[in-house]
Amino acid sequence: MSEPRKILVTSALPYANGSIHLGHMLEYIQTDMWVRFQKHRGNQCTYVCADDAHGSAIMLRAEKEGITPEQLIANVQAEHSADFAEFLVDFDNFHSTHSEENRELSSAIYIKLREAGHIATRSITQYFDPEKKMFLADRFIKGTCPKCGTDDQYGDNCEKCGATYAPTDLKNPKSAISGATPVLKDSQHFFFKLPDFDAMLKSWTRSGALQDAVANKIAEWLDAGLQQWDISRDAPYFGFEIPDEPGKYFYVWLDAPIGYMASFKNLCARRPELDFDAYWAKDSTTELYHFIGKDIVNFHALFWPAMLEGAGYRKPTAINVHGYLTVNGQKMSKSRGTFIKARTYLDHLSPEYLRYYYASKLGRGVDDLDLNLEDFVQKVNSDLVGKVVNIASRCAGFIHKGNAGVMVEGNAAPELTDAFLAAAPSIAEAYEARDFARAMREIMGLADRANAWIAEKAPWAMAKQEGKQDEVQAVCALGINLFRQLVIFLKPVLPVLAADAEAFLNVAPLTWADHSTLLANHQLNAFKPLMTRIDPVKVQAMSDASKEDLVASQTDTGDAALQGNGELVKEPLAAEIEFDAFAAVDLRVALILKAEAVEGADKLLRLTLDIGDEQRNVFSGIKSAYPNPAELEGRLTMMIANLKPRKMRFGISEGMVMAAGPGGEEIYLLSPDSGAKPGQRIK
Ligand code: MSP
Ligand code: ZN
Repeated sequence: MSEPRKILVTSALPYANGSIHLGHMLEYIQTDMWVRFQKHRGNQCTYVCADDAHGSAIMLRAEKEGITPEQLIANVQAEHSADFAEFLVDFDNFHSTHSEENRELSSAIYIKLREAGHIATRSITQYFDPEKKMFLADRFIKGTCPKCGTDDQYGDNCEKCGATYAPTDLKNPKSAISGATPVLKDSQHFFFKLPDFDAMLKSWTRSGALQDAVANKIAEWLDAGLQQWDISRDAPYFGFEIPDEPGKYFYVWLDAPIGYMASFKNLCARRPELDFDAYWAKDSTTELYHFIGKDIVNFHALFWPAMLEGAGYRKPTAINVHGYLTVNGQKMSKSRGTFIKARTYLDHLSPEYLRYYYASKLGRGVDDLDLNLEDFVQKVNSDLVGKVVNIASRCAGFIHKGNAGVMVEGNAAPELTDAFLAAAPSIAEAYEARDFARAMREIMGLADRANAWIAEKAPWAMAKQEGKQDEVQAVCALGINLFRQLVIFLKPVLPVLAADAEAFLNVAPLTWADHSTLLANHQLNAFKPLMTRIDPVKVQAMSDASKEDLVASQTDTGDAALQGNGELVKEPLAAEIEFDAFAAVDLRVALILKAEAVEGADKLLRLTLDIGDEQRNVFSGIKSAYPNPAELEGRLTMMIANLKPRKMRFGISEGMVMAAGPGGEEIYLLSPDSGAKPGQRIK
């Protein structure tokens, strides 16, 4: 066997001024699965992270809450740690950038860069808030767009017309903090001389440390020419003071990545087997990986390697970049209930459902990843409950009933166990390459084969026949062995399922190497359901609660977007679509032939619709507005006629009628002008 690899892994450090949401979780779950895979394989893998605690946003928020920044970041750290732990993200250490280790390392790295001549100083002119007595970052300045004249735009770009500009171009600028008119003021700033590292970066970014798409993006920046990077901010600022420069602070992005080292250093103090210098020395033989989102590539693939190089440390082995999370095909939106906080999810659903769903969709690329809530329910229920857990629940009972819970010796289908064994290297390769989607596909392919074999043998039928008891035991013992293999392969994704399965299987914690053995003459423990199906009602409750989060947070800030009853007055417009997307929707005039209440459903009406050549059965949640449904009969409305039929508890719904309004009594069924004929297409 080869030596275990020594691997240090990080996820980006979450800002300490907000809650963790499901977009963040994509990153932490992805990293955690990869780390667990490495540990499962017997490598020495260490996963560190921290809260990113510095910057003016944190200073200002603490001020608004009437607490010190230290109190704020302590509160947030407790919240973040609890969220991560419940999502089974198993950091070896979760530290803070506002720590002694980070102060020392940041100062030391800065001094090394300065001594090597990589720091420049010069005076720059910036807007200054004369009331707050502070320089204003672009996002703290608001004014009128110089291009299109829209009011209330931020200091660097216009949300209305998309123009980008310097804050000094804004008309009528105001401080977003105090409302005062800012004045221009000079101040000495410190710069990191990034162009000194141009040649190193040109070769390092093409050395295999980056995905191709990322390397190509970086090449554009490199070709455009590197600029010096402003690494200082003036007091008042929440951060570390720059050595020998009173009143000057490190910009948050200077000490944030050093926070990776600081968190590791803090861990080394209690883990004697970890040697800080061995991991960070220029000639280190250990591996270092940073998992990040695509929005922070410049900091990790340009500034950070240059800082490390300039200060005499090793550079990362690779930067692993992922795309952004969308929910139901769109950017997460508070009004649609798709801006889902980690905590809100955990209040309603088990973390392993999401871990599996993310795994099933995460490839090596930087494409955005969509959490489609219907697909989520369907995929988890069909794969995990329907395929994997199903094998154990089909087989366990016969072994307990027929053989006192003892799995017999033997191999009832060597061709199957051979296939499982043969698949292992390819599954491991997919995990190693972060192609979780491929790993999950291959594992589910094995689960399908196991299920098909069990269905063909049908132990439930054999159990009723004379003389077949040995065969029943042989089939079920192999079924449980195949289930055990699947659990071994899935353990990095589903650690709780694996632990529960280990308890049922009555085995020590499973490692990857265990996949090459079979249990024989082995006593099982009682079988308890290992995972239940996702109830779509809970998913809906989670979305509803996410809208309530919005109500709560808008009440906090006194936002006027809500009426007293908490109903949204204004729904923001959905994202723009191409004409083709519209043309794909087949809208028809429909005559309501029949409208009746549905027994057992509070909100639904069953509509029988005439659309010319055919009749449609449609369930519609409009009962609250039409308590006497018969009044709808004979009326024209409009329907989406090419919507995929949906199976509901009460039957199949073959389309959707169109109505507007917030809900309750305020639902307005749309109607065409008189003269329209059933079946006419709306264009
Ligand atoms: N504090 C910086 C990182 C400093 S690392 C030295 C930061 N924090 S963050 O809280 O905004 O983001 C943390 C990580 O979550 C980033 O890698 C970011 O890309 C990722 N994500 C934040 N929102 C996301 C989605 N909607 N989707 C996927 N990842 C997302 O950036
Ligand atoms: Zn504009």
